[in-house]
Amino acid sequence: MGPIGRVLLDENIVIAKLGDKVTVMRDRCAHRFTRLSGGKVLDNGRIQCPYHGWEYGAGGACEHMPACPNDPIPKKARTPAYETEVKYGLIWVRMDSSWDCTEIPFCEAWENPEFKRQIVAEPYGWNSSAERRWENFTDFSHFAYVHPGTLYDPAYSEPAIVPVDRVSGELQFFMEPGKDMLDNLPEDSPLGSWTYRAAMPFTVNLSIRLYKNDQPFLLWTTSSPTSGDSCRNFMIIAHTDPDLPDETPLDFQKLVLAEDHPVIETQP
Ligand code: FES
Ligand SMILES: [Fe+2]
Repeated sequence: MGPIGRVLLDENIVIAKLGDKVTVMRDRCAHRFTRLSGGKVLDNGRIQCPYHGWEYGAGGACEHMPACPNDPIPKKARTPAYETEVKYGLIWVRMDSSWDCTEIPFCEAWENPEFKRQIVAEPYGWNSSAERRWENFTDFSHFAYVHPGTLYDPAYSEPAIVPVDRVSGELQFFMEPGKDMLDNLPEDSPLGSWTYRAAMPFTVNLSIRLYKNDQPFLLWTTSSPTSGDSCRNFMIIAHTDPDLPDETPLDFQKLVLAEDHPVIETQP
């Protein structure tokens, strides 16, 4: 796999599968700062720079310099490699290993047989900070104004004030929108009791017990900060209906996102 160039926290990174290990490094050759993502992954488990062919191993050190193959390789001939883990079908990167207080956030549906289908949606980018995206996902009082007739009945414009608990590094809260709204919302709208578990980094596990059939439904989202004012967002939708086409919940979420997107991008 790879190499694939991406941006995380304003830094160019390169993702590649070297041997059997998914590796993420700074996308910059130590020689003349060329992007390694323009190079290639070799059969020897290294990534090769496209300019002069330096080869880097999974730890980020240059292991071969074709122009002087018999000389010792300087210690400085390396690019930072970041802690990386693959989970929920996503690649997680810790840019600064001195921050070991964060864990990969909980996703209720992953490897949970109660859910018959877990859909990892196509990522989408917004010109908003990850904080704004996260805030938007946890905001109750915008439903009546931004999602009237999709997620919410605008007649209920005064949301409940709910207590927020801090548990093991997560913010947890619960909301029960009015059941009467069911009559005025589309069939695919996930109206139910909503339990939020919000965790660093910019992740929400929204566990829903649907009013229409008393089944669990999960909306899980995480926002990757590409820069201070842009983000790339990942969503997992999980449910219990093996016959439901993936397009049904995906299309509904696209509709909801299309309502949020133009509003949130106007925020500084
Ligand atoms: S710039 Fe990468 S090998 Fe020269
Ligand atoms: Fe919204």
